[in-house]
Amino acid sequence: MSKLPQPFPEVLLLLFLISIPFNVISETIETERTVLLNLKQQLGNPPAIQLWNVSSSPCSWPGIKCTDGSVTSVSLQDMNITSEIPPSICKLKNLTFLDLSDNFIPGHFPTLLYNCSKLQHLNLSLNYFIGSVPGDIYQLSTLVYLDLSDNNFSGNIPPSIGGLRALKELRLQYNEFNGTFPKEIGNLSKLELLWMAYNGFVQMNIPDMFTQLKKLKYLWMTATNLIGKIPEGFANLSSLEWFDMSKNNLEGPIPSRLLMLKNLTNLYLFNNELSGKIPRPVEALNLVEIDLCRNNLTGTIPGEFGMMQNLVFFNLMSNQLTGEIPAGMDQLPVLKVFRIFANKLSGVLPPELGLHSKLEYFEVCDNQFTGQLPENLCAYRVLLGVVAFSNNLSGHIPASLGNCSTLRTVQLYNNQFSGEIPPGLWTTFDLSVLLLSNNSFSGELPSQLGRNLSMVKISKNKFSGNIPVGIGSWSSLTVFEANGNQLSGELPSDIASWKSLNTLDLSGNKLSGQIPAAIGSLPDLLNLDLSENQFSGKIPDNLANLRLTSLNLSSNKLYGQIPDEFDNLAYENSFLNNSNLCADTPILNLPDCSSKPRKLTSKYLPLILSLAVFIVIVTVSLILFVMIDYRSKKRGGDLATWKLTSFHRLDFTEENIVSRLTESNLIGSGGSGKVYKIAINESGGFVAVKRIWNNKKLDGKLKKEFIAEVEILGSIRHANIVKLLCCISSENSKLLVYEFMENQSLDRWLHGKKKRSTTIGTNSIYHIVLDWPTRMRIAIGAAQGLCYMHHDCCPPIIHRDVKSSNILLDSEFKARIADFGLAKMLTRQGEPHTMSAVAGTFGYFAPGKINREFYGSFVVKSICLLDLYIAEYAYTTKVNEKFDVYSFGVVLLELVTGREANCGDEHTNLAQWAWRHYTEGRPEVEIFDPEINDPCHLEEMTLVYKLGLICTSTLPSSRPSMKEVLLFLQRHSRHPKKK
Ligand SMILES: *[C@@H]1O[C@H](CO)[C@@H](O)[C@H](O)[C@H]1NC(C)=O
Ligand SMILES: *[C@@H]1O[C@H](CO)[C@@H](O)[C@H](O)[C@H]1NC(C)=O
Ligand SMILES: *[C@@H]1O[C@H](CO)[C@@H](O)[C@H](O)[C@H]1NC(C)=O
Repeated sequence: MSKLPQPFPEVLLLLFLISIPFNVISETIETERTVLLNLKQQLGNPPAIQLWNVSSSPCSWPGIKCTDGSVTSVSLQDMNITSEIPPSICKLKNLTFLDLSDNFIPGHFPTLLYNCSKLQHLNLSLNYFIGSVPGDIYQLSTLVYLDLSDNNFSGNIPPSIGGLRALKELRLQYNEFNGTFPKEIGNLSKLELLWMAYNGFVQMNIPDMFTQLKKLKYLWMTATNLIGKIPEGFANLSSLEWFDMSKNNLEGPIPSRLLMLKNLTNLYLFNNELSGKIPRPVEALNLVEIDLCRNNLTGTIPGEFGMMQNLVFFNLMSNQLTGEIPAGMDQLPVLKVFRIFANKLSGVLPPELGLHSKLEYFEVCDNQFTGQLPENLCAYRVLLGVVAFSNNLSGHIPASLGNCSTLRTVQLYNNQFSGEIPPGLWTTFDLSVLLLSNNSFSGELPSQLGRNLSMVKISKNKFSGNIPVGIGSWSSLTVFEANGNQLSGELPSDIASWKSLNTLDLSGNKLSGQIPAAIGSLPDLLNLDLSENQFSGKIPDNLANLRLTSLNLSSNKLYGQIPDEFDNLAYENSFLNNSNLCADTPILNLPDCSSKPRKLTSKYLPLILSLAVFIVIVTVSLILFVMIDYRSKKRGGDLATWKLTSFHRLDFTEENIVSRLTESNLIGSGGSGKVYKIAINESGGFVAVKRIWNNKKLDGKLKKEFIAEVEILGSIRHANIVKLLCCISSENSKLLVYEFMENQSLDRWLHGKKKRSTTIGTNSIYHIVLDWPTRMRIAIGAAQGLCYMHHDCCPPIIHRDVKSSNILLDSEFKARIADFGLAKMLTRQGEPHTMSAVAGTFGYFAPGKINREFYGSFVVKSICLLDLYIAEYAYTTKVNEKFDVYSFGVVLLELVTGREANCGDEHTNLAQWAWRHYTEGRPEVEIFDPEINDPCHLEEMTLVYKLGLICTSTLPSSRPSMKEVLLFLQRHSRHPKKK
C-alpha cells in the first residue's frame, strides 16, 4: 500500500512511550507494528484482533509470533476476513508463517505473496479463492507447506508446482480443479504429504513419476478420476504409511509388493475395479487399517492377516473372496472393526473374536459361514453391532450378548439359529434393530423391550405363547414383524401406545379374539397384516382413520360390514376368506350386507359381479361427472357459505377465486383434486388454486386438525416452501390458494413427455431438458425446504407426500415444496372409489413387506457407499422424519435417472430398480438420464445417485436426516461452497 500510516495523536504516543520504561523500542518492532496496524485496518478491523493496539509489543498480540524480536508468524484463521490480502503483508520481511485459513477471502491466488521472500508455511484453505493456480508459483520457492484446500480453484495444477523443491506438504483437496495435475509433482523429492482428493480432474493415470516420491508418507487421492493401474513402483515408496485411492476407476491387481511396505499402516482402495488376489503382506505386519472394499478381489484372505498385531480396521467387504478366515485373527490385540460381509467366505467364525480386543463392529453377513457365533464378541463391552445374516450359522445366541449394553443392532436373519433369546437382549438400552427372521428361535415374547428398540423382525421362527400384557412399554417400535410363528391369545389393546409403529405383521399365527380398536389410533401405521389368524368379531370402524398402504385381514373369522372407506378396489385382497364379512357395494366381491349372507355357489357369479361392478363404476362416474360439472357451473352461487382464512395480505377476494373455477382454467388434476390457474388482477398476477376432492363432510375433529395444520403452514415463511396464501372453505369443499409457480412441478419437466397424453394444460415447453446444475439446485432447494420443516419447526412437520409433483418451480427454477400433508388429510375422508387415490404415490412410500425382503440383505452394503458418512448413522435410532427422507431419496433418483418413481412393473419401483443396479455392481453411468449427457458432472451425479440409495435404505435408522442430506448436497455441489 502506498498510503502512509496516520501519525498517532501526540498524547497517545506520549502515553505509549511512558508505558514502556526501559526498552529502547527497536526500529524493527516499530516498523512491524505499523505494518500490522495497517494490515488490521485493511482487513476491516476484525473484532478478534482488537487487542492489536499501539500500547503493546506486536510480539504479544494474538495471532502474532516473533523470533529474535521480529515478527515471523501471522495466524488469522477464522476471523471473518472478507477482503483481499493487502500487499503490505510482505513488508514483514522476516515472515515465514502465514495462516489465513477459514475466512471468506475472495479473488485469485495472491501472487503478491511472492514478495514474502522467507515464507515457508502458507495456509489459504477454506476461503473463496477462484481461478487457476498461477504458472509462476515456483517463485514461492522457500515454501515447505502449502495448503490451498477447500477453495474454488479450478483449471490445471501447473507443472511449475514441481519447482517448489522444499515442499514437504501439499494440500489441494476439495477444490474445483477440472483440468490435469502435473507429473512434475514427482520432482518434489522432500514431499511427505500429498492430498488432492475430491477434485474433478480429467481422467488420468497415476503418473509413474509419483513413484519417485521417496519420502511420501500420506497419499490421499480419493475421487480424483484416476484410471488405469496402480504403478508397480509404489511398492518402492518405503516411507508410505497412508495410501488412499478409493472412489476412482482403478483396475487390475494391487501391486503385489505394496502390502510389503514396512511403514504402511492404512490402505484404502475401495470403490475401484481392482481385481486379482490380495497380495500376501510379508513386511507390512504393522498395518493398522486396510480397506479394499467393493473391488473384484478373488482368492483367499492371506494368512498374514492373522499376524498383524497393529490391525485396527479390517474391511474387505463386497469382493469375491473365498475360503476361510485366517487363523489368529481372533487373537489380534487391537482389532476394532471386522467387516468382511458380501463375499463367499466359508468355514467357522474365529471362536475367540472379541475376547482379545475391543471389538466394535462385527459384520460377516452374506457369506457361507457355518457353526456358531463366537461366544465372547462383547467381552470388552464396546460392541455396537452383530451383523451375521444370510449365512448357515446355527446354535444359540451366546448368553453373553444378553449382557452387552452397547449393542445397537443385531441382525441374524436367514440362518439356522435355535433356542431362546437371551433375556437381556430384548431390553438392551441402545439396541434399535433386532432382526431374527427365518431361524428356529423359540420361547415367548418379553413384556419389556429396550427403550430404543424400533425395529423387531422375528418372522418365521417358533416363538409361542401370548403377546404379553405390558407391551405398552414397547413404545418405540416402528416395525414389528412376527408372522409365521405360533403366537396365540388376544392382541392386547395397550398396543395403542405404539405410537411410532408403521408396520405390524402378525400373519400366520394363532391369534384370536377381536381386533383391538386401538390399532386405529396409531398415527403412523402404514402396513397392517393380521391375516391367517383366528381373529373374530367386526372390523373396528376406526381402522378407516389410518392412511394404510397395505392391509391384509384375510383368512380370519371376521364378520359384519367392512367400513365404507375400504370399499374400493385398493383393498381387493384385504378381506379374502372371511366368510361372514359383507359390504355395501359389490366392488370387492363381498356379499351384500342388506341381504342374508348367501352361499356363493353359482359359477357364473364372479362374471355377474364383474359386470355389476363395471356398471356401477360407469354409473357412479357419470353421476360424479355430472354433479361436478353442475357444481362448477353454479359458479359460487352459494358464495355466502365460503369462508376465507388468509395468511398473507391478499389482493383478491374469495369471489375472485370461486367464480373462476372453470374448466378453461384447469391446469391439472390428480388423485387428490384439481388445480386451477387463476388470474387475480389486471397486471397478469396469478394464483394456483387446489381444490380438494371431498364429497363427504369433515367430522368435527378432523376439521379442527385441518384448520390447525393450515394455520401452521400458512404461517411458514421459507424461500423453498410454496406460500399458502389462504384457504377458502365451504361445508364440503376446500380450496387452497398458493402463489403461482411459472414452471409448475418438477415431474412435468422430468417425465412430461411420457405423460403428455394424460395431463391437461400447456405442455409444449416440456421438451426442454433440465441440465444437471439446474437439477442439483432443485435438489438443494427442496432439501432446504424439507430440512426447515424437520429441523427448524417446532414441532417438526413431516410432509408425508414428498414427490416430484409436489416440488414446484418458479420462473428461475427455484424449488419450492408444496402440499404439506393437507391434501392427504382431506382425501382420507372422501376418497373416490378409484385406485389412483391410493396408488398415486406408489413408488415414494418406504417399502412394504415384499420389497423389504428384497432390500434387507443389501442395507448393510451401503456402509461403503459413503463410507464414514453412513457408518455413523447406521447405528442411530431416530426414525420419524425418515419417511420423508425415503421419498426425497426417490426424488433424487428421479433427478439422476430421469425415470419415474413408479417406473418398473408392479413389483419394482425406481428405488428398488436402482438398488438392484447398484448391488449388481453395474456402472453408475448406465442409469444416468441419457438426456443430461454432461461428462463434467459425472462425479456429482454419482454422489447424488448414491445419496438417493442411502435415503431409500429399508432401515429408517440407516437413512440420514434431512439436515445431513442437505449438508451432503451442498458439500458436493459445485456452486454454493462452504458456510
Ligand atoms: C464471525 O461472524 C459471526 C457471525 O457474524 C460471529 O458469530 C462470530 O463470532 C465471528 N467470529 C469472529 C472470530 O469474530
Ligand atoms: C529480521 O530478523 C533479523 C534477526 O533475526 C533482524 O536482524 C532483522 O532486522 C529483521 N528484519 C526486519 C526487516 O525486521
Ligand atoms: C473449469 O472450470 C472453470 C471455472 O468453473 C471454467 O471456467 C472452465 O471452463 C472449466 N474448464 C473445463 C476444461 O471444463
